[in-house]
Amino acid sequence: MKAVVFHGPRQVAVEEVTDPKIEEPLDAIIKITTTNICGSDLHPYDGRAPLDEGMVLGHENMGIVAETGPGVNRVKVGDRVSVPFNLACGTCRNCNEGWTSACLRANPSGQPGAGYGYPHMGPYWGGQAEFMRVPWADFNLLELPAGHEHESDFTMLSDIFPTGYHGTELAQVAPGKTVAVFGAGPVGLMAAYSANIRGASQTFVADFQPDRLALAERMGATAINLADGDPVEAIMEATDGFGVDCGVEAVGFQAHDPAGQEHPALVLDNLVSVVRATGHIGVVGVYVPQDPDAATEEAKEGRVAFNFGAAFEKGLSIGSGQCPVKRYNRELRDLIIRGQARPSQIISHELPLDQAVDAYAEFDRRADGYTKVVLHPGQAA
Ligand SMILES: NC(=O)c1ccc[n+]([C@@H]2O[C@H](COP(=O)([O-])OP(=O)(O)OC[C@H]3O[C@@H](n4cnc5c(N)ncnc54)[C@H](O)[C@@H]3O)[C@@H](O)[C@H]2O)c1
Ligand SMILES: [Zn+2]
Ligand SMILES: [Zn+2]
Repeated sequence: MKAVVFHGPRQVAVEEVTDPKIEEPLDAIIKITTTNICGSDLHPYDGRAPLDEGMVLGHENMGIVAETGPGVNRVKVGDRVSVPFNLACGTCRNCNEGWTSACLRANPSGQPGAGYGYPHMGPYWGGQAEFMRVPWADFNLLELPAGHEHESDFTMLSDIFPTGYHGTELAQVAPGKTVAVFGAGPVGLMAAYSANIRGASQTFVADFQPDRLALAERMGATAINLADGDPVEAIMEATDGFGVDCGVEAVGFQAHDPAGQEHPALVLDNLVSVVRATGHIGVVGVYVPQDPDAATEEAKEGRVAFNFGAAFEKGLSIGSGQCPVKRYNRELRDLIIRGQARPSQIISHELPLDQAVDAYAEFDRRADGYTKVVLHPGQAA
């Protein structure tokens, strides 16, 4: 089959690899109809998270069940499904408590949490390919209505719609609350969108990419352009000096200023400043325990020196981590089916798989207009 293969930093190729096979009785093989490029894919792409040469990329996948192992009895060949980016066993303590993001059995390294085509998440190939293998298929796969309807909305269910929603859950967004989202990438935009769904009275979205801020405004958020000055001052002024109830971090460890200089603590500091005392912050942007290329000596060891003293004094709560997609994807799917949510509005490019190499390069430099790229392995080049 054809797949997007990782060969090293900024070296990906679309090439022939062996077809995935049923390896365990609970496996299924999915024929991919749509697979997305994620901001998380850029961490290995940029050489900031080590990934094995030869790994097939892609953790945001959907498609049609092509084959099932002998132990699979819920999901059937021909079913249309979304594949959550967390790969989980369904029976361990964390899975039982709904924390599929920290499955204790799926990652052979012993680290809690597994996924597809991603550093430290196990040996599982991703779905930027014609086919992919999904272990524990009955547990992991989310069924979708048959046909082609809502394809570009449903493809947001494997990661960024639930992840943005998880940011607002950790931040305890509720009717009438005010919210500040840092980062207007796909995850930040989906967090702002989720804040609307949860009834926020006002949502600020801070970034310095004008095209992404324009999308945030189209969703009804108030754009804060970092290039125009200090986002903390802007948000404090807009809230009469009170600050917001809820903050969402959707940037991650490569947070930088508009000039491109990295400051690993910048966004966390900004959030601690703009969230009111006793408020809540959800950190869904990724931070890593080791980053040899980090801008500070501390950050090379995962130590991000934000103002925890101020956070403590304000009594803030801070939640973080990978999104447990299965906690939310069923209900978010039903919002799409009932016409209540249209997360596809952030898609900027729908391309055949063969154009993945250019798409990675353009998305990586946050080229104007490259908000979210989705790939269709079945589409002619
Ligand atoms: N927790 C999870 O489960 C999960 C899932 C998916 C993605 N992520 C992470 O979410 C983060 C965002 O991913 P994405 O897909 O939206 O892509 P992205 O990396 O394109 O988005 C990041 C955005 O942050 C902006 N930014 C950079 N510095 C900033 C600053 N100081 N203040 C405000 N904005 C700033 C960038 O301009 C960019 O638009 C990444 O770290 C990604 O790995 C986490
Ligand atoms: Zn993703
Ligand atoms: Zn488990």
